[in-house]
Amino acid sequence: MSTAPPPPTQSPRTPPSAAGYLVVFAIGLLMGIVLIVVMLRVLDARKTWQDRYPAALMQLYQAQMAQLSGNLDANRCATSDTVGHLQTMRALSNDLEPAFPALRDHRGFVAHAADARRTLDTALASPPVDCAGLRTTIDSIGATCSACHQDVRG
Ligand code: HEC
Repeated sequence: MSTAPPPPTQSPRTPPSAAGYLVVFAIGLLMGIVLIVVMLRVLDARKTWQDRYPAALMQLYQAQMAQLSGNLDANRCATSDTVGHLQTMRALSNDLEPAFPALRDHRGFVAHAADARRTLDTALASPPVDCAGLRTTIDSIGATCSACHQDVRG
């Protein structure tokens, strides 16, 4: 005579508490966030230099301008303090068209790029020797930045 297996002990199902739902929700949220971060990193790693170049070039421009303004604020206005930054910006300006191939046929962009190079050539031909000169130089370069931005942003 076989004995029947004992019936499974039925624990009375209590509905999950509000705190239980909250924990599950928090875990789900956390997993979602981690997944999004991983996906963003994967997408970022797939970027080529061409994808990064426009922002990179502009950030370098900005870094040079910030250093020139910093010099002006610190009263460091000797030609030797300025020329290096002007040369760097002049060299960067050769790459405006390669950095923005989509804008190669944008007449405003091309004209502003030429204008930026001309302004830097002028500044390098007679670099500022004092702070008043440096201020004028920074302003004239800054004007070429804003002129192009206004034109391409429409
Ligand atoms: C010949 C055109 C041109 C000139 C000159 C130019 N820019 Fe730009 N700049 C652009 C374009 C195009 C963009 C990207 C589109 C936009 O955001 O308007 C941009 C975007 C930027 C950005 C945002 C970059 C980012 O991280 O997305 C900064 C900062 C910037 N420029 C700084 C400067 C500074 C500083 C100068 C001058 C020294 C300058 N630019 C001169 C065309 C120009």
